[in-house]
Amino acid sequence: MESISKTLNEGGTKVKCYTTNCSTFEGLKLEDRPAPTPGRGEVLVDVHSVSLNYRDLLVSSGKYGYETEAPFIACSDMSGVVTAVGEGVGGFEPGQRVFNSPFKNWPTGDLKAEWATTFVGGNGLDGVLAEQLVYPGKSLIALPDNLTMEEGATLTVAGLTAWAAIVTHGKTRPGDWVLLHGTGGVSIFAAQLASALGAHLIMSTSSEEKAKLVREKFGVDHTFDYREADWAKQVKKWTRGGANVVVEVAGGGSLGASLKACTFGARVAVIGVLDGLESQINVFDLIRHQITVRGIYMESTEVLHAFARAIKTMNIKPVVDRVFPFAQARDAFEYLKSQRHMGKVVINIR
Ligand SMILES: NC(=O)c1ccc[n+]([C@@H]2O[C@H](COP(=O)([O-])OP(=O)(O)OC[C@H]3O[C@@H](n4cnc5c(N)ncnc54)[C@H](OP(=O)(O)O)[C@@H]3O)[C@@H](O)[C@H]2O)c1
Repeated sequence: MESISKTLNEGGTKVKCYTTNCSTFEGLKLEDRPAPTPGRGEVLVDVHSVSLNYRDLLVSSGKYGYETEAPFIACSDMSGVVTAVGEGVGGFEPGQRVFNSPFKNWPTGDLKAEWATTFVGGNGLDGVLAEQLVYPGKSLIALPDNLTMEEGATLTVAGLTAWAAIVTHGKTRPGDWVLLHGTGGVSIFAAQLASALGAHLIMSTSSEEKAKLVREKFGVDHTFDYREADWAKQVKKWTRGGANVVVEVAGGGSLGASLKACTFGARVAVIGVLDGLESQINVFDLIRHQITVRGIYMESTEVLHAFARAIKTMNIKPVVDRVFPFAQARDAFEYLKSQRHMGKVVINIR
């Protein structure tokens, strides 16, 4: 097993990291890189935990971005401890626990073209699966003190996206019916948030075992298998009219059915592509029920600050399914790919 401690190599301090070649999982490579030093506006962080997202599977298998941009450091979500603070950074000190915004630069408001390219761990931009990194201070956030490092590493993409779907766009109210698909990172987070807001939950899953678990652990009212035909009719029956909020992580054939499952004034967050990129929808379903459909691509650092505060006051504990050591990072990717998980898969660096 390769050591994960810093090594002296060719006269300079090195840190270990995993790079992707944007082609195959086997192309995930443990490498030495020169230890980073924080420049103006930057903070040096000893990374503790990294959580995986479906995007990391897409990136590492060449389905998101381009091989020509590889190699670069994989993954986008981390928690860690500040070890040094560059000039011009306020509000951080060594020893402080932090996690990162997924975009190095999206301070507030709607995303802009020049900020969209700063989403780390993809499109040639180094990510966070490393022993140590530098990150812009303005895009780091204090870790809520009710969370462990492993839990804190799950807030960046899955947590923030669920927040966007349930709160910012979904405007979920007590008594609303929320429709969720699958038991992955985003959907489980969305279930926790919606439940805390007093909503009723319907969740689809391909696993009977997971269906039982989400009913017991997260108060999910009804479950169904998303591979069944005509589930939209069943959702309409359970809800006596249709879902108010939909967290659509599947896209493909699921989106059209989700729209059929909606009631008047429903809010649909279109998030993912687990069922494919192309969807067929009935326009009349949208018009008749005055449904608002919004594409979600996470949110700004400003919103992430608000989300972190809410996580603490709502005392929500992210669901970490399994933690892998740094040396077994490839196994963690394989495990996520197998879809045996519920919630989040985490890699511990230290
Ligand atoms: N737009 C954004 O900002 C954003 C942010 C985060 C994620 N995403 C996207 O959202 C999707 C989910 O991401 P994630 O990280 O939460 O994934 P994940 O943790 O890997 O979740 C995968 C789970 O989804 C379920 N699933 C698989 N195929 C499905 C289908 N055809 N219909 C419904 N559910 C299905 C399965 O649950 P069961 O085992 O229970 O069947 C599977 O275990 C991905 O497409 C990802 O790229 C987008």
